[in-house]
Amino acid sequence: MAYNVLLFSDPGIDDSFAIMYALLNPDLNIVGIVSGYGNTPKEQSVKNTAYLLDLAGREDIPIIAGAAGPLSGESVQFYPEIHGPEGLGPIKPPDSLQKVEVHDFNKILEIINEYKGDLIIVNVGRLTELALMFVLYGDNVFKDVTAFYIMGGAFLVPGNISAEAEANFYSDSIAANIVMEKAHNIYLYPLNVTNKAIITPEVINYLSENSPTPFRPLLKPAFDYYFKAYQKNIPGIKGAPFHDVIPLMAITNPEIVRYIPRRVRVEEFGKAKGKSIADFRPKPDKEPPETLDNIGMEADIQKFVINFMEVFLQGDFGKK
Ligand code: BDR
Ligand code: CA
Repeated sequence: MAYNVLLFSDPGIDDSFAIMYALLNPDLNIVGIVSGYGNTPKEQSVKNTAYLLDLAGREDIPIIAGAAGPLSGESVQFYPEIHGPEGLGPIKPPDSLQKVEVHDFNKILEIINEYKGDLIIVNVGRLTELALMFVLYGDNVFKDVTAFYIMGGAFLVPGNISAEAEANFYSDSIAANIVMEKAHNIYLYPLNVTNKAIITPEVINYLSENSPTPFRPLLKPAFDYYFKAYQKNIPGIKGAPFHDVIPLMAITNPEIVRYIPRRVRVEEFGKAKGKSIADFRPKPDKEPPETLDNIGMEADIQKFVINFMEVFLQGDFGKK
């Protein structure tokens, strides 16, 4: 039985690899993709999701239009230098995709009700949409959701958007704090884990020759663009970190990540805006058990790479 997953993302190159991975993994059943601002503007993010679903022949998966900006109302900064002018590196989704059917926010409630008790939420973009759900529908809105798998934060390592903060938490720190405080059964994948989830050019070269999936032509150009940006920022890096693939992989391969239970809070304002905070002292302050989040501390990167390759090489691609 596959896991039902409602995915929140902002494609973006590593988001796009995460979407492709999720569509190809036979043990994941994607029941909707919420596409919002983040790496690119919301409209572009929707287009990129539609393009990937179209390539996969999975137009049956509903796309939900997410937020256009953070709860603070601040204007948004995008990252074309990392993700490309349109979010897929040099790739431009075809113009024929202009008229994509896009659902509004209520569709999220519909999906939650449809998959009551058997739905995992994965969030690999800004946390705005999840926080908005609490704002719009109250603290019990997700009571029937099994678990939340979230890429965000950075523990005991530097940030990637500021000295202290990781991009998903920083870009809507208010939302990130709401979600970390109100959502239950959270599995968190911060930079201390995802920075190490490196895919090398050798792996991509191999897949771009051998992957029997409809995504094959995208793999190399999208990767090369993203890798170049990382090489510029981190000279000597051997590949590019696929942050957003980790949470999805961790659902079907739980042994890959080691967790530690701690309450996570997010600094909302000031110099340390977006910083994720947890008590890592040998004797941390006692917190109520329901407030504890499973923080990813380490991952088995060899297994990560092997599973990534297996999924992109599997031949029985098709509608699940
Ligand atoms: C996160 O920020 C985005 O740029 C990536 O897609 C990932 O979700 C990494 O900090
Ligand atoms: Ca992302």
